[in-house]
Amino acid sequence: MTSLVIKGVRPYGEGDPVDIRVEHGVIAEIGAGLSAQETFDARGAVALPGFVDLHTHLREPGREDTETVETGSRAAALGGYTAVFAMANTDPVADNAVVVEHVWRRGREVGLVDVHPIGAVTVGLNGEKLAELGTMAASQAGVRVFSDDGMCVADPLIMRRALEYTKALDAVIAQHAEEPRLTVGAQAHEGETAARLGLAGWPSVAEEAIVARDCLLARHVGARLHVCHVSTAGTVDVLRWAKERGTEVTAEVTPHHLLLDDSRLGGYDPVNKVNPPLRERTDAAALRQALADGVVDCVATDHAPHAAQDKDCEWSAARPGMLGLQTALSVVVRTMVEPGLLDWRGVARVMSERPAEIGGLVEHGRPIAVGEPATLALVDPDATWTVRGADFASIAANTPFEGMELPGQVVATLLRGRFTARDGKVG
Ligand code: DOR
Ligand code: ZN
Repeated sequence: MTSLVIKGVRPYGEGDPVDIRVEHGVIAEIGAGLSAQETFDARGAVALPGFVDLHTHLREPGREDTETVETGSRAAALGGYTAVFAMANTDPVADNAVVVEHVWRRGREVGLVDVHPIGAVTVGLNGEKLAELGTMAASQAGVRVFSDDGMCVADPLIMRRALEYTKALDAVIAQHAEEPRLTVGAQAHEGETAARLGLAGWPSVAEEAIVARDCLLARHVGARLHVCHVSTAGTVDVLRWAKERGTEVTAEVTPHHLLLDDSRLGGYDPVNKVNPPLRERTDAAALRQALADGVVDCVATDHAPHAAQDKDCEWSAARPGMLGLQTALSVVVRTMVEPGLLDWRGVARVMSERPAEIGGLVEHGRPIAVGEPATLALVDPDATWTVRGADFASIAANTPFEGMELPGQVVATLLRGRFTARDGKVG
């Protein structure tokens, strides 16, 4: 591997521009006027540790018409990500060692981001019988995050047992918090907008009740809990309460819940359909504040590719979910950096350091310092760009941000010293 110097970056957006020399995948020197065989001019860019996504749907196996490990890895690299956790709601479900090892192996073959398969908590995501968590943990994939995402682990006894197992495995359950008895037939956030549009409501309490229950269960068992895609102000209150009492709970918020709300639903465009649903303006504001305060630990995309025929249809027939990997950073800049809620250090924390810690990745979310892996996202803080779903690396194009002009552009991504994306192109 040739030596490389990245010219003129500001680590964490702080101080004067510096050069970073990379040797054998590791940061060898940081200083002024460095040289090497290869140089990359990144003048003006902010250097951050490569982003880590705890919540990506890669759709392989089963729905390779919408995304594959390869196309999702390309989207991730272009979005500044160096590691992603692939959700288990594939077909077949990733509820056994064979499937998680397949996803893990495909990730290695593609080699653009570290792909960590998430294992299902219950067999077939049916919520009834625990999957073989230990076998998945002991597999080559080394699974440390388990989730039935898409479905909630609703049965409290199953959840308790799952927490007991993951405690023993030093793993974590990522819960999709949705009390299914309260969301039967739900189509949109239960509130004024849904009532006016005639859409069956998904009440905030269906999320909050499960988060409260699971915080209590996690504390009772002495296990860690991670809450997926927090969407309501009430959930923030529950998390704050639980954290103040020493519960080992962490939580993520999606870019779309930070920026969007249910006022977008008037046109019945299913691109806005997602689970949990877009909530109210006041919820989005509470989520932004919680992310700034650390009550919500990190950003996770819930990148959910869907085929055109599953989105370009009537609202009730459409599948929930939206793309996120190539827009996450820019939405975080718009919602958190521009209003002064986070500085670039804070972006590093919520996009890289905290998700790496939660997922147990020791090679990601590392400091930008000599001797550390050169696993980086370089961001032009002054650039703006216009979102075009058709241009994304994903096979699907279901972005709710279509046509928006957003700030902050990923100019390069490096994984252990190798470019995985550069000037908008993979590799
Ligand atoms: O909107 C969503 N889409 N929420 C989920 O929980 C699952 C995901 C999917 O798999 O499409
Ligand atoms: Zn989910």
